[in-house]
Amino acid sequence: MYKDDEVNKTKKDKELVLTDKTSGVSWILPTPTKSDGKIQAQPTSVVVLPRSTNTQSLTVLDNRTNKLYEIPITNNTISALKFKEIRSDPAPGSREEDESGKGLKVFDPAFQNTAVAYSKITYINGDTGALRYRGYPIEQLAEKSTYLEVAYLLIYGELPSKTQYASFSHEIMRHTFVHFNVTELMRKFNYDAHPMGMFISCISAMSTFHPDANPALAGSNLFIRDERVRNKQIYRLLGKTPTLAAMAYRHRIGRSYNVPQNNLSYTENFLYMLDQLSEKNYKPNPKLARALDILFILHADHELNCSTAAMRHIGSSLVDPYSAISGAAAALYGPLHGGANEAVLRMLEEIGSLDKVPVFLQEVKERKRKLFGFGHRIYKNYDPRAKIIRKIAYEVFDVCGREPLIDVAMGLEKIALEDEYFIKRKLYPNVDFYSGLIYKAMGFPTDMFPVLFAIPRIAGWLAHWKESLEDKESKIWRPRQVYVGPSVRSYVPLDLREADNKVFVAKVHHPFSKRTSVATFDDDDKIQSKL
Ligand code: CMC
Repeated sequence: MYKDDEVNKTKKDKELVLTDKTSGVSWILPTPTKSDGKIQAQPTSVVVLPRSTNTQSLTVLDNRTNKLYEIPITNNTISALKFKEIRSDPAPGSREEDESGKGLKVFDPAFQNTAVAYSKITYINGDTGALRYRGYPIEQLAEKSTYLEVAYLLIYGELPSKTQYASFSHEIMRHTFVHFNVTELMRKFNYDAHPMGMFISCISAMSTFHPDANPALAGSNLFIRDERVRNKQIYRLLGKTPTLAAMAYRHRIGRSYNVPQNNLSYTENFLYMLDQLSEKNYKPNPKLARALDILFILHADHELNCSTAAMRHIGSSLVDPYSAISGAAAALYGPLHGGANEAVLRMLEEIGSLDKVPVFLQEVKERKRKLFGFGHRIYKNYDPRAKIIRKIAYEVFDVCGREPLIDVAMGLEKIALEDEYFIKRKLYPNVDFYSGLIYKAMGFPTDMFPVLFAIPRIAGWLAHWKESLEDKESKIWRPRQVYVGPSVRSYVPLDLREADNKVFVAKVHHPFSKRTSVATFDDDDKIQSKL
């Protein structure tokens, strides 16, 4: 390092000179100047770094220690593990000493700029608004493909041949029946239970019905070792989840559950299980079955979103896929993720009419409200799925009648896209903005919407599960934290603790109804306090 203390008077004086102390040889370094010849910057200290021959690397100088590190760049990423080698020499006994002994960590809450896996499944370009499954543009798949073909593509990496497609569809459709005790479990839910809660619980319960797929019983590396066992769970999960969803729907409206019809297509069978009563040869409307199939294609995968990251995370412990998928579905349920389609519809219903849109958007800008169905961590342009959904909404309206809230949605979109707040933050409609309107037009109750997102996402979760099991570099996921709590302290016995601390205000909870609170009886709590 070379400090240029005496080079600050004239232009000439401000030239930087590098001198080799051993040989005495000096070099004049170019000084940054503006177009008028004036000096652009007045450096106070200069660091000379050795130029690495590796152009795909970072040269990092630790200013605490003056040590240099070279960090290779591969696939436009740097390895966080390389930063472990960067250590300082802090004061003995300090927290920094404790931490720095382990090397530097990368702090990235909410994974905003951290890649955790190599994947060949889905490509998203958030700036241009491109989405591809295994290289195929989503627009082509939505137009020409079917959901089961897309599921095969996502899971196995290629589009199936005719025979592969026939055998894959056959396997899935003959795994649509669920154990009788699962139906009994479903019956035990409250009459107004949220269908997503029922769906998640029943998927989780499925792990107890398939001991052949339980690593605790069949061997910890069961799914890595045995491709057939892995495939069997893929068929079961793709086959049985629409049955569970249809049962949750029928439970809510007090109808007995329908037996799956394996001669129908995937979405036809789903619509049949939802709707058939006693009609013979019931066949759902083909346009609605196709619209649902397209919606399933659009929702099938979206690389490492919150729920898929959860799937990989839970799966990394090598647990069975039913437990992992119930965890992933729970992540999807949240209103910032797959629960947003339900939140969008409730929001549109609350706004009610076009004239209320400006007031609502003002409240969003004042951070009193959230505009559900807008914004995305990756897309800083129009979500390509939202474009396709907007188009097919009208095809569904042709069959089922126009959903009047579409006018509120389109008005909201138009005003938002012209508003500085949304332009500056690059907030565009995402997949959930229009999907709820189609589901509503098709007659689905609002709380079924997240379930309609979760059914097709099973394919994506399974594709990522399979890819991570086949990845030789896979390890159990275990992020790091930065501990900022108290340093070591000694336990104080209860009797010696004087003042109430402020962290928790104890409130007495009275679980009594109005009538019980005016009744007379022996109260256990009161008896307890007298002792
Ligand atoms: N309404 C109002 N402001 C928003 C919204 C929104 N929907 N989304 C983002 N912003 C603002 C946010 O307040 C922040 O502003 P500032 O920089 O001034 O603080 C800025 O935009 C950046 O947002 P962020 O919260 O840092 O972005 P994120 O990447 O952490 O969150 C998101 C992404 C999807 C959770 C968020 O945009 C959001 O909450 N959207 C509404 C919920 C929603 O529609 N979710 C469905 C996502 S698509 C389906 C799926 O795959 O899950």
